[in-house]
Amino acid sequence: MNLTIIGAGYVGLVTAAVFAKLGNEVWVVEIDNDKLKKLSCGEIPFYEPGLGELITKNTSAGKLRFTKSYKEAILGSEIIFVCVGTPSKNGKVDLSYVYSATKSVAENLKNPATIVIKSTVPPGINSKIEKWMKRFTKVSFDLASVPEFLREGKALEDSLHPYRVVIGVEKKSVAKKLLQLHKKIPGKRLVCNSASAQMIKYASNAYLPTKISFANSISILCDKFGAKVEDVMKGVGMDKRIGPDFLAAGLGYGGSCFPKDISALLHLSKKAGYNFSILKAVEKTNRKQVDYFVKKVVRLCGGSVKDKILVVLGLSFKPDTSDIRNARSLLVIEELQEKGAKIRACDPVAISEAQKVIKEVKFFGDPYEAMKGVGALILVTEWEQYKNLDFVKIKKLLKSPIVIDGWNVYNRKRLEKLGFVYEGIGK
Ligand code: UDX
Repeated sequence: MNLTIIGAGYVGLVTAAVFAKLGNEVWVVEIDNDKLKKLSCGEIPFYEPGLGELITKNTSAGKLRFTKSYKEAILGSEIIFVCVGTPSKNGKVDLSYVYSATKSVAENLKNPATIVIKSTVPPGINSKIEKWMKRFTKVSFDLASVPEFLREGKALEDSLHPYRVVIGVEKKSVAKKLLQLHKKIPGKRLVCNSASAQMIKYASNAYLPTKISFANSISILCDKFGAKVEDVMKGVGMDKRIGPDFLAAGLGYGGSCFPKDISALLHLSKKAGYNFSILKAVEKTNRKQVDYFVKKVVRLCGGSVKDKILVVLGLSFKPDTSDIRNARSLLVIEELQEKGAKIRACDPVAISEAQKVIKEVKFFGDPYEAMKGVGALILVTEWEQYKNLDFVKIKKLLKSPIVIDGWNVYNRKRLEKLGFVYEGIGK
């Protein structure tokens, strides 16, 4: 099929690359000149395993094209995906990019098409967008909603092998067309109305953090009662009704989606006159987990971190991404700095992003280099390369052999045998 993707952000680029790989002819519209230039040379603006290669391959094969012109892209397109950002301002969803993109689509529409909203938008918005677009075109079109569920760092895997594809439509003929487009993609299918599809996205991005905050609350009790949260959650997750995923306790969730979508859903609930108290508690628990961790660091450092040099391992909000939006590292570093600590920070790919927002931190690519003479080692993002460090070597480098593990990745017995003071979370 001939497709157009509006917006070369995370969702847009992944959607474009995947549909091109599956044999479609794909145009991507991007209005930012700099970004467009870079993309045309195969440069992608963030780190995502495999995506750069897939884009280059399909660009060279002529399956994937980038342009600034809506007119050029959508001329022959049957389906147009709107993948622009919907940033949140104190929970209020900013829909200005959605409205400007759909206006441009409408103004350039020459033939009937299906317009699919992939951006995360408030449930029920499609009827408003439809009225809005009709102001700028006489050509007929259908609106649909196919929310995106991909995880950063695993974007291609999630898009090519999703758990489910949710198709939100108001007409059977549109469902048929979209089911056909997704035919080569495995996973379950759910066809529902567009408001339900949009609500599924918010509900999923609220429920997964609920599991995480629940596990984190249990981790605090595990610390108090001498239980091991990993074993506890393993046992809990063995119940099929609960499931094993998203029960890893640690420093809490970050990233661009969970925090944003939770605050948007809370805002929408308030507007609708509903007090979504569970979700408020999820958000609060997540914030408090960082405080709990920082208190641990201070305690293990002898009651004060003032003027102590500490190494923070990991800056990105999770491994395999350069994204530092709402990363726990930002909060941990800020709280430790407030208490007078001097921070050295390491990350395999996120240092340049972090340098834009974190002040008065020394950055190191090589963690061993960073560890020379420091007071404690703090694991904040569980990158694979930090899981397999040489602790015999580290013991000689640290001034005080203290390891505080935000994700329970290290072996307590082994570290204690080597002479380290070690603590995880709920361990
Ligand atoms: C998430 C959703 O998984 C995805 O479906 C949605 O489309 C976008 O938001 P993403 O933010 O990329 O994806 O990452 P994810 O792997 O879900 O992790 C989110 C956060 O939760 C990370 O900070 C991670 O460290 C944390 N997390 C995850 C936990 O604290 N415990 C867990 O068990 C799992």
